[in-house]
Amino acid sequence: MSDRSPADAPLPSGDDPWGYSDRRVVVTGAASGMGKAACEILVALGAEVVGVDIQPIDIEGVAETHRLDLSDTTATDAVTDAIIDSGGRRVDALFNIAGIPGTGEPRAILAINFCGLRRFTERIIPAMPPGSAICSIGSTAAVNWPFHVDELLDLLAVDDDAAALDWLVDHLPQLGYPYDVSKEAVNVYTAWRAISLNAVGIRINCVNPGGTYTPASRDFAKAVKSKDGGAEMIEHWPKLMGRMARPSEQAWPMVFLNSPYAGFVNGAVLFADAGLTSGMFTRQHHPAVAAGMFWSPPVRSEPSR
Ligand SMILES: NC(=O)c1ccc[n+]([C@@H]2O[C@H](COP(=O)([O-])OP(=O)(O)OC[C@H]3O[C@@H](n4cnc5c(N)ncnc54)[C@H](O)[C@@H]3O)[C@@H](O)[C@H]2O)c1
Repeated sequence: MSDRSPADAPLPSGDDPWGYSDRRVVVTGAASGMGKAACEILVALGAEVVGVDIQPIDIEGVAETHRLDLSDTTATDAVTDAIIDSGGRRVDALFNIAGIPGTGEPRAILAINFCGLRRFTERIIPAMPPGSAICSIGSTAAVNWPFHVDELLDLLAVDDDAAALDWLVDHLPQLGYPYDVSKEAVNVYTAWRAISLNAVGIRINCVNPGGTYTPASRDFAKAVKSKDGGAEMIEHWPKLMGRMARPSEQAWPMVFLNSPYAGFVNGAVLFADAGLTSGMFTRQHHPAVAAGMFWSPPVRSEPSR
């Protein structure tokens, strides 16, 4: 699958324990929260880190920074061109972490969290050699994506970003809350794109975080509370997870997934949520949690005779 498959990946060593020391990596959302944590880890692991954010980035050791509003397609093209030097420079790993909570305006949520992420990714891919990897942040709010695959595959067929954004806005009444839909689209994009990228030796995966303590936490909580059943869900939610995650507890799984040691992991959606969703799937959590997340167990069909 790749020229850095497990068989030929270097064994962990004191000098380069995660295989990042010779890698150029791009992190979006680098200024804050999980993106900042990812940058700090990657700098410590010896990677050449390129940070991208709408805000200024101030992290020691980051090699290159770019200010970018991911909802601006023209600016995204200019920044991605600058990062890859119009094809002259490679990118070994991409960490798509930038995003806004559900308190934002629906069109902005969809434009940044999905359309901007997809455009940025597609423009970086041509600079990624075999053995490279992409990891995006979704959310536990994306848990319903398997129930919306048919609709979301129609979305993925819309290449033009402005048209895709219109498609998303038009389909919100069927699909649900804008933030949840934006993250479902990231999940289905990951699963779908994994197949074509496999052919060129690039992996793509996704981490779906549960509640994580970051500067955006308050807005995430406010958005969840505003959903149908959200207030009751939040009341029962902390009991399930025990505590909020630290930003680094979302960054490390991404670092692993983009490392050579995850060489056969492709198209995977990893829930980093202390068991929130697995508890839902196995009917162990308070029904208010499943209701607040819009998730309900599929109806069992009668066995055919
Ligand atoms: N915190 C949580 O509980 C939680 C849970 C699930 C998923 N997430 C997701 O995790 C990711 C990181 O969130 P966080 O909690 O670290 O929040 P954060 O606000 O600390 O970090 C998000 C970063 O994205 C940047 N950003 C926002 N809009 C942008 C734009 N238009 N263009 C470029 N950069 C932009 C922000 O400036 C910020 O630096 C987001 O995608 C978020 O949706 C967060």
